[in-house]
Amino acid sequence: MKIAIILSSVRDNRLADIVLSKVKTLIGASFDYTIVDPLEYKLPLLNKRYYEMKEPEDVFKKLHSIFEESDGFLIVSAEYNHSIPPALSNMLDHFGAEFNYKSCGIVTYSDGPIGGARSGEQIKLMCSTLGMAPIPISPAWGLAHKAGTPEGKSFEDNFERNFAKFIKQFAWYTEALARHRANWGDGVIG
Ligand SMILES: Cc1cc2nc3c(=O)[nH]c(=O)nc-3n(C[C@H](O)[C@H](O)[C@H](O)COP(=O)(O)O)c2cc1C
Repeated sequence: MKIAIILSSVRDNRLADIVLSKVKTLIGASFDYTIVDPLEYKLPLLNKRYYEMKEPEDVFKKLHSIFEESDGFLIVSAEYNHSIPPALSNMLDHFGAEFNYKSCGIVTYSDGPIGGARSGEQIKLMCSTLGMAPIPISPAWGLAHKAGTPEGKSFEDNFERNFAKFIKQFAWYTEALARHRANWGDGVIG
């Protein structure tokens, strides 16, 4: 199964890199993935959605191809003001049909004890509206900036335990939806 791992933060010294590194370790060889990092793509704030662009710039074409070829989306997101970081929502806003009938797994983190779970709920709503099927388990890593320290240990252990359940569920939904999309064929689903 091919998935896109989508990040949300473009901040200097972001925690996102530590979390991504952990996520990569925990995923192992379960999926063939492409990292989609808003820091690399530097999209402008939304003007036109991809389908409205007459001559899309390469950056949009590349993202379109990655999303189109992905069977599922694993979103690794921070929480800003209990909500979705703007670089993530701006990137997702540019696309739509590429996401349809594909699974979405949401992993959040923060430097607080709740691990970004509140932004995870908002991301679920957004992704569902965009046509994805968000899966039930959403691991949230609290005190992620304390990774590897005694203070952060119980949060890190808890995250790893939940991630192990999550990745099986994500694989189940991703594969089930991929098979069903193949069975129904183009033109049957919008
Ligand atoms: C604009 C902003 C809003 C934030 N709001 C929250 C919040 O609502 N809940 C929370 O737990 N942490 C919040 N934080 C702290 C983040 O968890 C922490 O800065 C984390 O490192 C953000 O991830 P990043 O470094 O990958 O961007 C906020 C941080 C910023 C910059």
